[in-house]
Amino acid sequence: MNSLYSLTLLFHSTVRYFVLIAMLVTIYRSIIALVQGKSFGPLDEKLSVWLLIMAHTQLILGLVLYGISPAVIFSAASMKDPGTRYWLVEHITTMIIAVILITLSRVTTKNLTDDAKKHRRVLIYNVLAGLLILMAIQMSGRGFLGLPI
Ligand code: HEM
Repeated sequence: MNSLYSLTLLFHSTVRYFVLIAMLVTIYRSIIALVQGKSFGPLDEKLSVWLLIMAHTQLILGLVLYGISPAVIFSAASMKDPGTRYWLVEHITTMIIAVILITLSRVTTKNLTDDAKKHRRVLIYNVLAGLLILMAIQMSGRGFLGLPI
């Protein structure tokens, strides 16, 4: 296995945990804030920027992997086999939609002044993105936990 591939896969596999943890904390904080009527504070701001950075890092690593991974096979036959179709089409499509949702959760709430509205929107976008990511990881058959080493 070439080292650029192994290294990129290791990073991509690791950054998923940062994305998932930041997302879980974001979802937890939005629910608590909505129930207790809390404002959208500096920590919420930091968390949403951190999640955005992690998701975009994951997107860039994923795009590199898409070009060099032996799991991505560009051929018509790949579409007939669920294993190869997953890496060629399903993973990239689902994950790009999830990254778009995470991006929307940041950009569409940045200038909102109503804190409850802000938390609600952040919650909805992140729950949807989280469900897509978990579904995609489940479909990969690689399991939720682990690293390629
Ligand atoms: C939040 C977004 C993403 C998450 C959470 C995620 C998660 C994962 C996970 C868990 C793996 C398996 C790693 C392993 O076996 O150790 C993986 C592999 C991979 N991902 Fe992603 N991914 C994301 C976005 C993307 C995007 C946007 C692309 C393509 C543009 C992409 C392309 C790939 C490829 C090509 C592989 C490698 C298959 C291989 O060579 O074994 N990923 N991803």
